[in-house]
Amino acid sequence: MDYSQKISERQWNLPDKGELESRREATYIDDIIQKDHIQRKLLENLDGIDTVFDGGAGSGRFSILLAKQGCHVTHFDISQPMIDKARELAMKEGVIDRITFVKGALEDLSAYQDREFDLVMSFDAPISYTYPNQNKVIGELVRIAGKRIMISVSSRLGSLPYLANPIQKNQFILDENADDPFVQWCVANREQMIRSFIFNKENAEKLLADGLMGGEEEIAQYKQGGTPWCITYTFMPDELEKILSGYGVKNIRLSGPGAFGRTVPLEVLKKMMSDPKQKQDFLDFCFRYDCNQYVCGMGKDNLLAVGNV
Ligand SMILES: C[S@@+](CC[C@H](N)C(=O)[O-])C[C@H]1O[C@@H](n2cnc3c(N)ncnc32)[C@H](O)[C@@H]1O
Repeated sequence: MDYSQKISERQWNLPDKGELESRREATYIDDIIQKDHIQRKLLENLDGIDTVFDGGAGSGRFSILLAKQGCHVTHFDISQPMIDKARELAMKEGVIDRITFVKGALEDLSAYQDREFDLVMSFDAPISYTYPNQNKVIGELVRIAGKRIMISVSSRLGSLPYLANPIQKNQFILDENADDPFVQWCVANREQMIRSFIFNKENAEKLLADGLMGGEEEIAQYKQGGTPWCITYTFMPDELEKILSGYGVKNIRLSGPGAFGRTVPLEVLKKMMSDPKQKQDFLDFCFRYDCNQYVCGMGKDNLLAVGNV
């Protein structure tokens, strides 16, 4: 097993992961924008879809949504805490009978037949955490898709600005007093992060060239018993399009959830989020803007692709 898979497994199996993941939209505005974008894309691409495979399905944000639409969903994830949380939420939503929960790694989809599912989806970067197997994993996801594939991966152009912005997540915190360890960390360390920041051009050039966030340092931490963040492969838009079309995917549409929202200051974002009409109008427009193929690379964190097989 590659180190990146081992690191991923340890990181995502931390006991509080399911709970934290299920609360993201109550905590971070960039997550509200991203999940809203994916939800709209899904709902406009459901014609003829009955069976669904959700790879890296997390706490069930989209597997439950599609089960509520009447689909039969295989909820597949490497993390037991995520699956436990998703099961609890599916029960609450009354859709437990339409979801099959499977603990497994995307690196091995050999249990599934060619074209077994009408729709295969994988959102918010699980594919990026399978480095160095990400291309093979995409090929396997396409193989088991019968009609459509929808994936979102880490975006290279979208991640690069973080190397010049040590407080990027502060811009999206909905409530600075939220009971979330990462929110509290961001708030407590804001000034210190700015004071100690030095722009490292070599690091930026390296990420632009090889697309890799993390590596040797994470492996060393893991070997010492630590739980570093997953080694993450980030994609360029033309690269993702080429990989998908190489596997025979047609009519590929790319988008960049969060491209419009990342330009807005926190105070203004918070103001819009607190007014239901403003919030709706803003999210409507974000979706329209972020679907433009010329801005797709500048999505916040994610690059989304939809295609037919
Ligand atoms: C950021 S969460 C996204 C959850 C969900 N797809 C969503 O969009 O809300 C990433 C998920 O990928 C899962 N994951 C990470 N690496 C994986 C792998 N190699 N195989 C399967 N699942 C993986 C994690 O356990 C986690 O639940």
